[in-house]
Amino acid sequence: MARFLVLAVQFTLPPMRIIALFNQKGGVGKTTTTANLGAALAESRRNVVLVDLDPQANLTTHFGVDPPEIAVSTYRVLADGLPLEEAFVARGEYLRIAPSTTDLAAAEVELVSVVGRELLLRRMADVRKFSADYVLIDCPPSLGLLTLNALAWANEVIIPLQAHFLALQGMAKLFETCHLVRKQINPRLRISGILLCQYEQQARLTGEVTDEVEKFLEASRGKNEPWSEAVIFETHVRRNIKLAEAPSFGQSIFQYAPHSAGAADYSVLAEEIMKMEKKP
Ligand SMILES: Nc1ncnc2c1ncn2[C@@H]1O[C@H](COP(=O)(O)OP(=O)(O)OP(=O)(O)O)[C@@H](O)[C@H]1O
Ligand SMILES: [Mg+2]
Repeated sequence: MARFLVLAVQFTLPPMRIIALFNQKGGVGKTTTTANLGAALAESRRNVVLVDLDPQANLTTHFGVDPPEIAVSTYRVLADGLPLEEAFVARGEYLRIAPSTTDLAAAEVELVSVVGRELLLRRMADVRKFSADYVLIDCPPSLGLLTLNALAWANEVIIPLQAHFLALQGMAKLFETCHLVRKQINPRLRISGILLCQYEQQARLTGEVTDEVEKFLEASRGKNEPWSEAVIFETHVRRNIKLAEAPSFGQSIFQYAPHSAGAADYSVLAEEIMKMEKKP
C-alpha cells in the first residue's frame, strides 16, 4: 500500500524542468540570469537547484560560496563520479547550488578518453535521489565537453542574448549543436526561449537583432527542430548596474537591491517561465 502511494505521488508530480543557460559567446548574461532567475523562482517557493558548470565559478561566487564550504564540486561529480546531490550547498529554504571550482577547467582534457564522457552529469544526477522543481545549469562560454554534459541532461535551453553588433555571430553553431545533441543523445531537448539581456530599448540594433531572430524562428515553426517552438521572451532584462554589483556582495538581486529594475525584470521573467509549467 505504502509503495503504491509513493508511486502514485511520483506520477502526479510535475516533471522537473532542467534548463541549460547556453550561449558560447562570453559575457551575454548566462550567469546573471542563472543566479537571479533561480533566486526569483525560489522567492516563488519553487524548489531550485543551480548547477555551476563553468570553471570561472562566477555563479558560485555570486552566492558567496567559498572554498571551505565546498565539500564536493561539480569537477568531482564529473571526474570522480560522485552523486550530484552531494555537491549541494544551501542558500535559503528553496535554493541549493552545486558549486564549481577552477579545476573544472581540467575536465575537458582529463575526460577526453572516457567513453560516454558527455553523459557524465546525466548519470551522476539521479533525479530519484533529490527533488527540485527547477534545475538551472550555468554553462561556460564554449561548445566543449562541459556544455555537452549540460545539454545531454537538460530538457530545455534558454539562450541569453545581448543585442549588439556581432550578437548573432556564432548563433548558427549554437543551433547546430542543439540539433546534434537532440538527434544523437537527448531527444527531449528543446529551446524554450531566447532572452534579451542588457537590453537598451533605444538602441537601433536591438530591433534589428530581434527581427532577425524572429524571422529565423518563424521559418522553423512546425518542423521537428529543438527551436521549432522557441519564443523570444516578452520580458527583456534591462541594463541595470545593480545586477553587476550584486555578485561582489555574494547576494542575489533580491537581497542586494530588491527595488531595482533588475529585481523587477527577473521577477517578471520568473512569472513568464512559470506560466510555461503546464506545457509538457
Ligand atoms: N542586465 C544587466 N545589466 C548590467 N550588467 C549586467 C547585466 N547582465 C549582466 N551584466 C554584467 O555583465 C557581465 C557579464 O554577465 P554574465 O557574467 O552574466 O555573462 P556570462 O554570459 O555568464 O559570461 P561568461 O560567458 O563569461 O560566463 C557581468 O559583469 C555582469 O554583472
Ligand atoms: Mg558566466
